[in-house]
Amino acid sequence: MKITVIPNGPLLIETVGEWNYTGTGGPTKKNDRIAFCRCGASGVKPFCDGTHRTIGFTAGGGECHLTPRE
Ligand code: FES
Repeated sequence: MKITVIPNGPLLIETVGEWNYTGTGGPTKKNDRIAFCRCGASGVKPFCDGTHRTIGFTAGGGECHLTPRE
C-alpha cells in the first residue's frame, strides 16, 4: 500500500487490488486508489471531490509505503 500526500491536495491511497471504501455520508467507492480530502471543503467527505483546487488550498506533500511485517 502506498500513501501519498499530494501537495496542495488530497491524501491518495493506492492498494494492490480493489477495495471498498465507505465514508461517513459519502458514496461507497470501489477502486485500487482513493483520494481523501485534506482541505475540509469537499462535498463528499471523507473523499476528495476536487474542491481544493477552487479554494486555493495549500499544504506540503509527502509519501509513505506500507508493507506487511515479516
Ligand atoms: S483535498 Fe480535494 S476536496 Fe479537499
